[in-house]
Amino acid sequence: MQTDNNCIVIFGASGDLTHRKLIPALYNLYKIGRLSENFSVLGVARSELNDETFREKMREALLETEETTPETLDAFCSHLYYQAVNTSDAADYGKLVPRLEELHTKYQTNGNTLYYMSTPPSLYGVIPECLAAHGLNEEKDGWKRIIVEKPFGYDEKTAQELDVQIHRFFEEHQIYRIDHYLGKETVQNLLVLRFSNGLFEPLWNRNYIDYVEITGAEAIGVEERGGYYDGSGAMRDMFQNHLLQVLAMVAMEPPAIINANSMRDEVAKVMHSLRPLTQDDVEHNLVLGQYTAAEIDGKEVKGYLQEKGVPANSRTETFMALRCEIENWRWAGVPFYVRTGKRLPARVTEIVIHFKTTPHPVFSQNAPENKLIIRIQPDEAISMRFGLKKPGAGFEAKEVSMDFRYADLADEQVLTAYERLLLDAMKGDATLFARTDAVHAAWKFVQPILDYKEAGGRIYEYEAGTWGPIAAEKLIAKSGRVWRKPSGKMKKKV
Ligand code: BG6
Repeated sequence: MQTDNNCIVIFGASGDLTHRKLIPALYNLYKIGRLSENFSVLGVARSELNDETFREKMREALLETEETTPETLDAFCSHLYYQAVNTSDAADYGKLVPRLEELHTKYQTNGNTLYYMSTPPSLYGVIPECLAAHGLNEEKDGWKRIIVEKPFGYDEKTAQELDVQIHRFFEEHQIYRIDHYLGKETVQNLLVLRFSNGLFEPLWNRNYIDYVEITGAEAIGVEERGGYYDGSGAMRDMFQNHLLQVLAMVAMEPPAIINANSMRDEVAKVMHSLRPLTQDDVEHNLVLGQYTAAEIDGKEVKGYLQEKGVPANSRTETFMALRCEIENWRWAGVPFYVRTGKRLPARVTEIVIHFKTTPHPVFSQNAPENKLIIRIQPDEAISMRFGLKKPGAGFEAKEVSMDFRYADLADEQVLTAYERLLLDAMKGDATLFARTDAVHAAWKFVQPILDYKEAGGRIYEYEAGTWGPIAAEKLIAKSGRVWRKPSGKMKKKV
């Protein structure tokens, strides 16, 4: 199904996200025929570009990353336009009025407009106000939707303030808060795995699950983003949004129906049921870390404090591990161990469901663990681990695995996260976008961590290329458990 005819206005069009993610995503959607021929993109930023120079820049970006032919590239780029605007000056937004009128007429869009705020967060409150000053938020002719990039606020208070600012000019049904983890096919698959199989659902609760591990590991450091990252840290950058959304998908109840409200009601319920973190939790069930210099594969790797844009005395965490619990009937008492970090040994996002062992080990003292490993990325896969008899005499059990790999569904065209989410926003489907109540509940949950950091809480060091501070091992070892140490590839069993 194609989208409605519409115009996409990208604020921050000269920025990194636009040429690295948004334009390539739109290009691919165009190439596979998912966009209506009547679409246009109006890039907006302060830089003095025009349609031609903007097209040239986007063409270069696409040539770097996409497989393309000159014909498709030209055809796609002919839909791109540009308008220079001083984005903090309401009067200057007046320039958008005739530009949009021209595009709406040319592409017969009936006024349908998708605004994308790919700007520094300081503009997230300003842009809606400036659009409203010229009536550009009004839905009297065609829909008007606005996509907000993360971060949605900096803490609980600023998230609420941001909401108030945006809600003054856009209603909740017009607001699309993008968390690109929700656009990942494998994250969505969690729901299908859980709710379309009679096999898993009966076991998916405190009676059969011992604990859950969620890992969002990255091998890269902060690269060129030191300036941004230092104001954010692993907690705000990955945990409060991406990993809590993944946790919600693992833990939520089946939605009554698959639509935006029903799904997001269940996500919000999980966020509200997270057991509030106490002082004891932040002191004993939380580990924050920062990577130090090391040699990885014969190459010197900088420590976080030596990265560009990072103050030499920074206390920003590049690693975080937390033990938390969900207080509801399904999960009471089941620990969720969640960790994320930069400069870890591999790039891997995965969930491990550890099932309880048999009540009594009949065959050997070390009965194999039953685990379901859900690999979100890379090398997307699901692996079920259980025990079978080791061939030969006796009845010794050994762990075996049954694996499914996404690559085996090679004939399916899997959309990337940004492709999927842009398409959904154009179709008006907010199911995979964060809703305001869940965002606030997530901030509320993490506030004690922010307070702990603010009050000088401990930041451990870990060598780049390792699985984080030893304290993180100790955190899980307190209950006799260990973190899985996944390699980037599912094949290499560890
Ligand atoms: C972004 C963070 O939201 O997600 C980055 O700002 C992080 O720091 C990235 O690297 C991870 O996304 P992915 O899709 O590569 O796992």
